[in-house]
Amino acid sequence: MRKPYVVTISSEKGGVGKTTLAINLAVYLKALNEDLPLTLFSFDNHFSVERLFRIGKQGDRGDVSGLFTGRLPEELLELGEYGVQFIPSCRRLDELPEVREAAADRVARSLAASHLGGIVIIDTRPTLDILTRNALCAADLVLIPVKDTPSLENCRNLYDFCQSQGIPKKALRLLPCLIDSRIRFKGPFADAYQLLKAYAINRGYRCMEGFISKSPKVESLNTNPEGRIYPILTHGRGTNVHRQFAHLARQIMLAAKGCETYRVDSIRQQQLRQRDKEHALRQRLENLLPNCLVCDRLLEVPPDGERDFFYGETADGRICGYLEENCFTDLVFRHFYQTRRQVDNDNPLRELFRESSERSYFVLRLNQEETDGSGLQFCFYRFDEQGLEISRKSFELKTFENRFLSREKTRLFRLMERAGLLDNPSTKDFLLIRRMRGLIAGEALPESHYAAFRQVMNEVAARLPKNLPPSSALADLSGTAAVHQP
Ligand SMILES: Nc1ncnc2c1ncn2[C@@H]1O[C@H](COP(=O)(O)OP(=O)(O)O)[C@@H](O)[C@H]1O
Ligand SMILES: [Mg+2]
Repeated sequence: MRKPYVVTISSEKGGVGKTTLAINLAVYLKALNEDLPLTLFSFDNHFSVERLFRIGKQGDRGDVSGLFTGRLPEELLELGEYGVQFIPSCRRLDELPEVREAAADRVARSLAASHLGGIVIIDTRPTLDILTRNALCAADLVLIPVKDTPSLENCRNLYDFCQSQGIPKKALRLLPCLIDSRIRFKGPFADAYQLLKAYAINRGYRCMEGFISKSPKVESLNTNPEGRIYPILTHGRGTNVHRQFAHLARQIMLAAKGCETYRVDSIRQQQLRQRDKEHALRQRLENLLPNCLVCDRLLEVPPDGERDFFYGETADGRICGYLEENCFTDLVFRHFYQTRRQVDNDNPLRELFRESSERSYFVLRLNQEETDGSGLQFCFYRFDEQGLEISRKSFELKTFENRFLSREKTRLFRLMERAGLLDNPSTKDFLLIRRMRGLIAGEALPESHYAAFRQVMNEVAARLPKNLPPSSALADLSGTAAVHQP
């Protein structure tokens, strides 16, 4: 076992046997496999862990609060009796600001960063506070001791919280504890154990096999003039509770060995994915050009912030930015549909283009470098949402507008310049453009939009022909022109 298998013992009810379970399970599990590292800590402040396991005086390595302040768990360990290692408890743990403000996965992340292997047992307080939430969040197995119906009813919140954290329901197991075998009932359920088990199953809760009896011997192990706690394994042999604990420990050992994905591992994976995503988002924001890729003016933002834009990004992702809707529409009419006059705002052609552009992706890329001095040949493609080519049109990129008095660069030329397609023209590089709804100028494309965009980008990159004959084909405004096979 590489990462630790984490067993959290939790119940919102006090006095159900959580701490007794936690400290004794540590001893029984260690006895089952001496080579298995066994780590125990408690978020409660009664120092039972120390009373059973501490050898000699407290060291100065730290305590469980370190799990919330970035210390590695292995730096906090103290080797205790029976080979059990423990992290010392902390008196006012819940009052520390680092704890109060902690995220629910803080401890899981600490454990994921550590080299602890084997099994970790976490004892919790009888409330669903931030400490308990952290203990649950890290758990592969949540043991919930129940001793009566109220404590069983109480576990609803635990189930709800675990569900919210993606912990599967089957990871939570009820264990009837402090069962007084002298109490017998008439009817189908002979004793408290049978009754609790039936209640649990009725509510869809799973149970561990067996139960823990109430035993005066066990109670006495907590109370003695030395102020120590003695383990059931060494001081309660011959009792039912000893056999019950041994059986319980074997079940847990089997579950730990059979566990395929450790919870702390999956939390770590999740974090790495999240970090990658954040990094990619920052990178995209850095690459995002602030102005319209066509006219280079500041993007117009309406009072409510959101509006439709075209979004463009180069295949290598180095350059991305927005194109004002009108700028790109005018550009398409002028250069690719070669409409002579300005297409006014109320012209139905515009509406037609808007509609079809919602189902299209546009591509601008170098076609080939002409050697006859006529300049660069480019191609304007239109793809559908699956990345299938709908139409294409080749054109020669003109640098200047035909004006009488001024020599101004064409907007198309400027767009290609901004997209970096003219620096080192290559047929591999292209600019993909897509109409996007409700975007906020200056912000990177939302993740869901971006994932779809990049997927089409990949499809398009795979389908773009290596080199084209310099023929041209007029794109059809409806977007349903015959497909040109590469
Ligand atoms: N199997 C048992 N038989 C008798 N008394 C027990 C048993 N388990 C725990 N106790 C006693 O019950 C009390 C509460 O147990 P504890 O483990 O501290 O519960 P919790 O941690 O849920 O508050 C303690 O006094 C403990 O000694
Ligand atoms: Mg306790």
